[in-house]
Amino acid sequence: MVMKLPRRRFLHLAAAAAALPAVARVARAQDYPTRPVTMVVPYAAGGPTDTIARIMAERMRASLGQVIIVENTTGAAGTIGVGRVARAAPDGYTISIGHWGTHVVNGAIYELQYHVFNDFEPVSLIATNPQLIVGRKALPAKDLQELIAWLKENVATATQGTAGHGSASHVSGVYFQSKTGTQFQFVPYRGAGPAMQDLVAGQIDIMIDQAANSLPQVRAGTIKAYAVTDKTRLAAAPEIPTVDEAGVPGLHISIWHALWMPKGTPKDIITKLNGAVVDTLADAGARKRLAELGQEIPPREDQNPQTLAATHKAEIEKWWPILKAANIKGE
Ligand code: MLT
Repeated sequence: MVMKLPRRRFLHLAAAAAALPAVARVARAQDYPTRPVTMVVPYAAGGPTDTIARIMAERMRASLGQVIIVENTTGAAGTIGVGRVARAAPDGYTISIGHWGTHVVNGAIYELQYHVFNDFEPVSLIATNPQLIVGRKALPAKDLQELIAWLKENVATATQGTAGHGSASHVSGVYFQSKTGTQFQFVPYRGAGPAMQDLVAGQIDIMIDQAANSLPQVRAGTIKAYAVTDKTRLAAAPEIPTVDEAGVPGLHISIWHALWMPKGTPKDIITKLNGAVVDTLADAGARKRLAELGQEIPPREDQNPQTLAATHKAEIEKWWPILKAANIKGE
């Protein structure tokens, strides 16, 4: 029994059916999020990326009306955690927090199952912080020049803790060696957090570490700070000299953190998530906590997917030739 529908009625139904996915998508974005969202931190708990993730997640919850669960998926200098998001469903419920190391360096030195730029949708930059050159408390060196001399005298045994081969802290160490003519052993950890525990315990000698991770320990007097890898001093720690002032001019390294979603995540969901990031970076409490950790927040007009995409692309074009020429290989 075939039901013959009047032509106009048939065309209306067909059009409505065709529009269904779009309507569903808009409805989905309007309701998004309807359940908790996961933010994947590719490094160990307690480190700089984890600390920044938790500050963001806590305040973004108010804007999104849903909890953001922070999950640490660690290993291989962050490639495992970032890979998890690259494979995740593009439905808005899995966020990648990362930085220069995870989304630029790793793309040049690791054989990855994903592309650090093409497999992600940019959401927004979060903040930038320089590195601090820090040492265990009992190190005899009183300033950066004495530290360089001590490293040269102890070339056979000196160690630097890193967050993994290829991590920001490791590449910074390679850059430091090339600028100072020093050689020391790299000791990889699953993040700067566990590395810092061993520095405080005196198990390793130095770190070149994000201000977000080192500043609390410097303030507690449990480690020594020798210099900040920037041309200007940190507002949060004006007593620490710049590398230029300390005699290693130009050793400038800044680590920018950002948020991404899996490729194909609907634009309206990205827009909603970006809105929550913007609210958070405007929030006095969140800004104060980020500033205390030496974080520089980008201006409002740069808190958008387009600026992140442009920054990300430019950093890849700048650093990949350098890293490939330096023949640093991921392990
Ligand atoms: C971390 O959170 O452990 C750091 O972001 C790692 C790094 O310095 O690359």
